[in-house]
Amino acid sequence: MVRVSLKVMEKRKRILTGDTPTGKLHLGHFVGTLENRVKLQTEYDTYILLANTHAFAKDATKPEDIYKNTLEDALDNLAVGLNPEKASLVLESLIPEIFELYTYFGMLASHNRVLRNPTVKEEIVYKKLGEHVSFGFVGYPILQAADILSLKADLVPVGQDQVPHLEQTREIARRFNELYGETFPVPEALVGRVARLPGTDGKAKMSKSLGNVIYLSDPAETVKHKVMMMYTDPTRARATDPGHVEGNPVFIYHDAFNPDKNEVADLKERYLKGKVGDIEVKEKLVKALNSFLDPIRSRRLGYEKNPGKVIEIIRTGTEKASQLAVSTLAEVREKLKLRL
Ligand code: TRP
Repeated sequence: MVRVSLKVMEKRKRILTGDTPTGKLHLGHFVGTLENRVKLQTEYDTYILLANTHAFAKDATKPEDIYKNTLEDALDNLAVGLNPEKASLVLESLIPEIFELYTYFGMLASHNRVLRNPTVKEEIVYKKLGEHVSFGFVGYPILQAADILSLKADLVPVGQDQVPHLEQTREIARRFNELYGETFPVPEALVGRVARLPGTDGKAKMSKSLGNVIYLSDPAETVKHKVMMMYTDPTRARATDPGHVEGNPVFIYHDAFNPDKNEVADLKERYLKGKVGDIEVKEKLVKALNSFLDPIRSRRLGYEKNPGKVIEIIRTGTEKASQLAVSTLAEVREKLKLRL
């Protein structure tokens, strides 16, 4: 019986994706990647990496915060419906093979190529890392390649911002295969249905560092407050002025989270004609968001009450991933002749 199920598992394509635990996950994460994780967990052998060492790249001074955020990250993943029977939660720092692979990959990627990564360049600016940006931060896409390839993942569900990292991962996989023989799959990125959700302030990206975020764990009242404060159409002074729907974050959120498509179509039509106020549009959004978030909040609460169980889930998931990484690294060392 066990042999049969292991065989089935081996044949299934594999997903590895994950989060850098710098804070709680938000609506942008949901439409970018979490939703695909949940959807695909039955079809793929799925691994969700709690990328705690990645968090040190940005700020290495607060290990206690990173530890706390890592557990929050696990809770958020479980809260949105990742089922630990199907998807493994993996603690990156407990898989030393990843860091070994990172060392080899760092020597396959050119220095200039690393510096050209557009997401890294952008992050250095909006995370205000400036001149103090760490060596590790600039190189984190290489660590990410090691995360992905140590498990020989085929598919990586991510937000749009992560696509350059996947390109780099693919280059490294190809280069390694070319130099040392076929070893790694060349993984695909899978971007969510909303590539980049704007922030509540209308800025292009929802991001903790920009303070324009609605968290998946925000209480209903907080969601209400944040939505009522949202940026809408700056060209519209009165409810009777015709408004803009396109690029208006309130409508982007309606499209993303309000299942009542007729209501959204009606609001848009009236907004364009100046026949509905921001308040009504926002109140309806609050309602839609809170009914979307309610089941997520209650699942989270269930796990929050049982932290021991969460730790156990991570332990089990990490052990499973570890077996894959150990076998990958044995193969890699053999190919690199790193032995006597
Ligand atoms: N860099 C990703 C982020 O900030 C997190 C991450 C780390 C990741 N390792 C990964 C994502 C491997 C996908 C695959 O969101």
